[in-house]
Amino acid sequence: MWVVWMVGCMSGTELTEDAKTDLTWSADVAAVVGERCAGCHQPEGLGGLPLVTYDDVFAARSAVRAAVQSGRMPPWMPSEECTSYVGDRSMSAEDEATLLEWIDGGAPAGDAAVVATTPTGPTLRADAVLPLPQGYSPQLAPDDYRCQLLDWTPDDEVFVTGAEVQVDRQDLVHHVIAFVIAESAVELYEGLDQDEPGPGWTCYGGPGGTAVTEDLELSDILAGNVGDALAVRTVASWVPGKTDVLLPEGTGLAMSPGERLILQMHYNSPAPDPGPDQSSLVLQLDDDVPRPAAMVALLDPAWVLDIPALGDPMQIPAGESDVRHSTTVDVDGLFFRSARERLGLAEDASYEVHTVGHHMHTLGTQGTVRILHDDGTDSCLLDIPDWDFDWQGSYTLRQSVVVSPGDQVQLSCSWDNSEGTEDVYWGEGTADEMCLGSLMVTEAR
Ligand code: HEC
Repeated sequence: MWVVWMVGCMSGTELTEDAKTDLTWSADVAAVVGERCAGCHQPEGLGGLPLVTYDDVFAARSAVRAAVQSGRMPPWMPSEECTSYVGDRSMSAEDEATLLEWIDGGAPAGDAAVVATTPTGPTLRADAVLPLPQGYSPQLAPDDYRCQLLDWTPDDEVFVTGAEVQVDRQDLVHHVIAFVIAESAVELYEGLDQDEPGPGWTCYGGPGGTAVTEDLELSDILAGNVGDALAVRTVASWVPGKTDVLLPEGTGLAMSPGERLILQMHYNSPAPDPGPDQSSLVLQLDDDVPRPAAMVALLDPAWVLDIPALGDPMQIPAGESDVRHSTTVDVDGLFFRSARERLGLAEDASYEVHTVGHHMHTLGTQGTVRILHDDGTDSCLLDIPDWDFDWQGSYTLRQSVVVSPGDQVQLSCSWDNSEGTEDVYWGEGTADEMCLGSLMVTEAR
């Protein structure tokens, strides 16, 4: 690059005086930043850091360098060695090299200050736009996790075939998870709302409502009624910049009359009370779909329930930096049972796995979901080598995977509790942990 700089100076080309690279914003870098960064880093965007114009990026270049080189940005947790996903936000090694070399070379503008383009992903049909019932101004800073029960239930059975969030306050909303709750659980959540002042209630690991899990008896678990007893399932997760807002072609998640939605909002704000946010959940709905889907939760009941007969709890001892727990879920076992019943399938059904999700809290460091096939082979569905709670979500597989009776789904989680003074266990609170996986499945073709 030194040579290029000399040539640039001597021949008096458009290179700026101290430029040590022939890469320019206009010719090489604007496209990369436009595609990989600008979608989230708009002037009103989160993090208060616009990365749209040359001036924006030039001014922030050392922070940009640090964020890209450390792998923090663009945010994308799954390892590419596992499998590939729709809407992958990661940056190619080539684009990363271009950006870093340009910054190190003095970040020259080039011919003209080209404005970066904003990427556009597939969009959904807005069949239902469901606002939070009340605007909420986060009371806790920097992080406030707040749930509200939406005022909506379908008139007839419908299928959710796409979901995204229409964000009201782009500077505050970090991630959103939409849960469906059974009609029987509505009263419980209304109670949580009433017990806390202000709109909605504080929630963290899930929509709250641990009372439901406390009522769960060993007999329920052995009978496979876990899903019904928890009475809650995830229907969508959203982060800024998410492009895979449509469910895989032909699939949809059913919602029945009486069932309700809870939106869990993660607000991130430098100071408390930044003013209200009233974002909306946007759903694409279809009366019928060729491939009805259902969610399968992955966990070990012994982690959640204090029933010694089930096995050991999910203990994460204080002072330990590398604690791992894992479990396997049988495809013909109880966790697939509620999906099987929902989809009306036989005990020996095979399933096609379309999406995979993983959830831990902030002590989490690594997580995986794999299929251990009956024939001894395995399929990697998700491998997160460096967990970041802020970017949790679910991932749509480019290539779906078929699982059959005899196969097992293996979920693993690792945590670092070296700074902790108390052992940590499963729970919904910020000081608790979870190890929870999810799959969206249809009947195999
Ligand atoms: C999916 C949305 C998204 C994309 C894409 C994205 N960012 Fe960010 N970025 C954020 C958010 C949100 C924050 C605020 C801090 C956080 O939550 O991690 C942030 C923070 C930052 C920061 C300041 C804090 C830090 O971690 O250093 C820099 C610098 C940054 N981003 C650079 C970039 C660059 C460069 C790109 C493209 C290569 C990029 N970002 C792509 C969402 C995004």
